[in-house]
Amino acid sequence: MRKLIAGMKISVDGKVEGTEHGADWVEAWSEDYGLTPQIDACLLGGGMYPGYEQYWSGIQNDPAKPAWITGNPPTPSELEWARFSAQTPHYVLSSTLTSALWTNTIFVRGLEEIAALKQQAGKDIYLVGGARATASLIDAGLVDELRLIAYPLIAGAGKALFETTEHRHGLELRKVQQLEYGRVSLIYGIVNGAG
Ligand SMILES: NC(=O)c1ccc[n+]([C@@H]2O[C@H](COP(=O)([O-])OP(=O)(O)OC[C@H]3O[C@@H](n4cnc5c(N)ncnc54)[C@H](OP(=O)(O)O)[C@@H]3O)[C@@H](O)[C@H]2O)c1
Repeated sequence: MRKLIAGMKISVDGKVEGTEHGADWVEAWSEDYGLTPQIDACLLGGGMYPGYEQYWSGIQNDPAKPAWITGNPPTPSELEWARFSAQTPHYVLSSTLTSALWTNTIFVRGLEEIAALKQQAGKDIYLVGGARATASLIDAGLVDELRLIAYPLIAGAGKALFETTEHRHGLELRKVQQLEYGRVSLIYGIVNGAG
């Protein structure tokens, strides 16, 4: 079965964004979890999808221009993700969104469709976010692995990754790696059903 793998950049206090300037401690929104070679589909919540589409469309259409959100020219890794995302199916969990600019975007209306997607043949699926979609997919036992990059910051007020998670889930530490700028990469298997 294909694995569903969530990747998120968080502050040490578990925030995916602050109250005023988003996650301004994140210097680039590239896929920095080492997932690209093993995935052939992305999954996103309807809350984050419009901004995601706008951000990566901007880089796809004008790679030299400073990217919206970071305000900096896209990094080499962001350019790579812009290319990869343009040719990779994106599944969007939403009961309200009905149209997307990208022809490779497919709307899914319920968690059972995601369970069915995991049963299809293919490589693994990258759960890009956001916070509520990730929390509810973890609660539904559909997420197999969690890849976090923890930034050296206590963000204080903001949106917590696990704010809407309702159930307890055991984690199995698979890999820890110290990254540049005081960041830490953490890979956990999620022990579904036996936490
Ligand atoms: N730091 C990071 O690495 C990172 C990565 C990605 C995103 N983010 C942040 O995450 C934020 C977006 O997250 P979010 O929590 O607001 O929105 P979200 O998780 O992207 O989307 C939530 C939406 O998904 C739809 N949905 C349908 N069924 C659902 C279900 N069973 N469970 C949950 N959602 C369901 C609903 O949309 P409908 O109302 O249309 O049904 C719901 O409003 C952004 O602010 C972004 O900055 C951070």
